[in-house]
Parts: sequence; C-alpha cells; structure tokens
Amino acid sequence: MSNNSAVGIHDLSFATTEFVLSHEALAEYNGTEIGKYHIGIGQRSMSVPAADEDIVTLAAAAAAPIIAKHGNERIRTVVFATESSIDQAKAAGIYVHSLLGLQSACRVVELKQACYGATAALQFAIGLVKRDPDQQVLVIASDVSKYDLDSPGESTQGAAAVAMLVSADPALVRIENASGLFTADVMDFWRPNYRSTALVDGQESVQAYLQAVEGSWKDYGEQGGRTLEQFAAFCYHQPFTKMAYKAHRHLLNYAGFDTDKDDIERAIGQTVAYNTVVGNSYTASVYLALAALLDQADDLTDRPIGFLSYGSGSVAEFFAGTVVPGYQQHLRTEANLEVIARRKPVDYAGYRELHERSFPADGGDHPTPAQTTGPFRFAGLSGHKRLYQAR
Ligand code: HMG
Repeated sequence: MSNNSAVGIHDLSFATTEFVLSHEALAEYNGTEIGKYHIGIGQRSMSVPAADEDIVTLAAAAAAPIIAKHGNERIRTVVFATESSIDQAKAAGIYVHSLLGLQSACRVVELKQACYGATAALQFAIGLVKRDPDQQVLVIASDVSKYDLDSPGESTQGAAAVAMLVSADPALVRIENASGLFTADVMDFWRPNYRSTALVDGQESVQAYLQAVEGSWKDYGEQGGRTLEQFAAFCYHQPFTKMAYKAHRHLLNYAGFDTDKDDIERAIGQTVAYNTVVGNSYTASVYLALAALLDQADDLTDRPIGFLSYGSGSVAEFFAGTVVPGYQQHLRTEANLEVIARRKPVDYAGYRELHERSFPADGGDHPTPAQTTGPFRFAGLSGHKRLYQAR
C-alpha cells in the first residue's frame, strides 16, 4: 500500500448522557437574559451525566454499535482520548476493552491534550493503519466538561463520547495527508490534578483559539494544503457553537476573504446541530460536528471538509477529509438523533446535586444510585477500584 492510499473514518457512533439541563433552567436560576445563551453563545441545553455514568460508560456506549457491526477481529489498537481522566495510571480504554469483550491481542492507551486529544488519536491511528492496512484502530473521544457552579464557564459544560473506526478504504471520510500544526504555551484553560473542575480565563481562551486558527491554517498552506474555496464545510471544535462562527469569520478575514453572513452559515450551519444541545464534549466536539454535518447535508460525495481541532494549552491542527461515495448508507442518523432525544430533562436543583457529587477517598464501598438506562453503568467504588456493569 502506498503512502497515498485512502485511510480514514470507516464508522462513527456517539453517545451522550442520561440527563439534560436546558439553558432556560440555568438562565432562570442565575437571572441571565436567555438571549445570551441562545444567541450570544449559541447553546440550548447541555448533557448532564447520571451518578452512574462517566467517560467509560459513555465511551463503551459509543463504541458498542461499531463492534456489533464490524466485529473486533481487526482491532489491534484502542486509543482513548480524554481530558476527564479517571485514573493517573490505568488507561480508561482498558475498562472499555473489557466491557466490549475486545480481543486480548490489542494495545490500549490513553491520550491527553485538552480538546485536541482525539485528533492526535486519529492521526496516530492513520499512521498505524498505513503501516498495516489489515488492521483497524478504534479511536474513542470521551469527556465530561465541568466548570465551577456559578462561574461563567458553567453555561458551556456538556458531555459525550464519539467512537470512530479508523481503517483502510473507509466508508465515510478519507483523511488527507496535509496537516497544519500549531502549539503555543498558553494558560487559557487547565485542570490541575487536585481539581475536578477546569480553570479558565474565558476571554483569553477565545483569543488563544483564534490565534491557533491562524497558526494551523498558515502551516496547512505551507504543507501544500487545499485553498479555502475548495471546502464544502468546516468542522470546528465547538466549546459553544458560536465559537465555530467566530473562528470561521476569523479564518476568512485572515485568508483575505469577505465575511459574508450567508457564506459563513453555509460553511458552518449544518455542523452545530448536535453540539448546540449536547454542550461542550471537549475532545469529542469536533467529531460531533462531523456527525451532524454528514447526517444533515444533502450530498457531500467527493467534497472536501475542513477540520479545525483546538485544545487549550494549546495545540491545534487544521486538516482535511474527503467524503466517500456511498457514505449515506453508513450513517447512524437515526441512532444519533435518538441518543439526544432520549435524555431526561433535569431541573436546576437536580443538576446541581449531580454536579456536587464526589466520592470519599477512603477505599470503602461506595455504590452509585442506579440512574442510567444506558447499556453500561459505573456501579461505584470499592477498595479504590472502579466497578462497571454491562446490561
Ligand atoms: P461570559 O463572560 O459569560 O459572556 O463568557 P460574554 O459577556 O463574553 O457574552 C458572550 C456573548 O453573548 C457575547 O457575544 C455577548 O455580546 C453575547 P460576542 O461578543 O462573543 O459575540 N450576549 C448576548 N447576545 C444576545 N442576547 C443577549 C446577550 N447578552 C450577551 N441578551 C465564555 C462567555 C464563553 C467566555 C464563558 O462561558 C467561558 O469562559 N466558557 C469556557 C471557556 C470556553 O469555552 N472557551 C472557548 C475557547 S477555548 C476552547 O475551545 C477549549 C476548551 O474547549 C477546553 C479544551 O480545550 O479542553 C474550552
């Protein structure tokens, strides 16, 4: 197989939480004019994990339909990208490997760089598949986004997992070789090991994101990438969906194009449908944007899509994918709509109680209440060990 053979996303499935908090409920609690949430940041609601859900249960729920469809015989690597890690040593993907009954002849690792992690996982997976096209790599992005209660970041929380099967001759999107990279040491958003919630300088983080758009686009051009006009749509990392609009306007300006509102809507509009109701799913977010785009666009056959992946701290990558003929037959549109529609609304008090939950670090038995109706649950802690159950 030559270096130019097609490798990319063969299947994509996502999962989100049991509960959902509407931004109306948040606005009513904190006295914010709802227009700030609906229009100012472009968010309608956010996914809230049940007491017995975490990044592992979300990840397993996202990946299970992929394993059911394709089997696991060719999967020799699982890369689990997250910034809401549950253990400093053991990779969360090993619990998923066990819950899904994957083969023991498999390497499983965890990868972190804020919201950029899943893109690194995708690129590393492509390298592995190019080395041996018979193998497939299961890439999982799973995160629970958590800021302090009553902080400006609170309205930009969310949670979801995306699972992608990366293979040769992919059925959905071929990922192209040219890639634009950008790293800068900035303290826009971070989470020290002793905190369960992220620290953020909101306005600084938006500026850092826009700088990274410039940097990664500049490098993409220098690496022989496509020109801006060639793209049918752009999937941006979406901590809140308005950020995608800000980023695209910035890119158009930077590249010397007009910033026509309708053009921006055409380039971004179909990518925000899932993120606007799920909230920030951190490293899964850019791939939720892809799912929304593929599920909604009329026909993207052979059209290039631009991806801008940003992770605070910061690392960004601009890359491109081309949509494969026949992709519509391989979409999971109904299932995607169902995982969003099945969430149960939680009121503000219920959300606050879930947000404040934590486990004593005493090594005792701490079962979780049975709340999730999903296929996997986090049953609790015992002897400092996490216990998971498949239904
Ligand atoms: P804030 O202080 O709550 O809001 O911060 P604001 O005052 O900046 O207002 C937000 C927008 O609402 C403004 O529009 C207002 O004009 C508008 P803009 O000037 O931006 O175009 N507005 C209204 N619009 C209509 N009707 C109204 C109204 N009122 C105001 N009535 C912020 C907002 C997003 C900064 C905050 O929520 C936050 O800190 N969030 C967390 C950080 C974040 O998401 N940063 C994004 C870039 S960094 C990133 O993407 C990485 C990240 O995902 C982490 C990772 O990589 O791991 C976060």
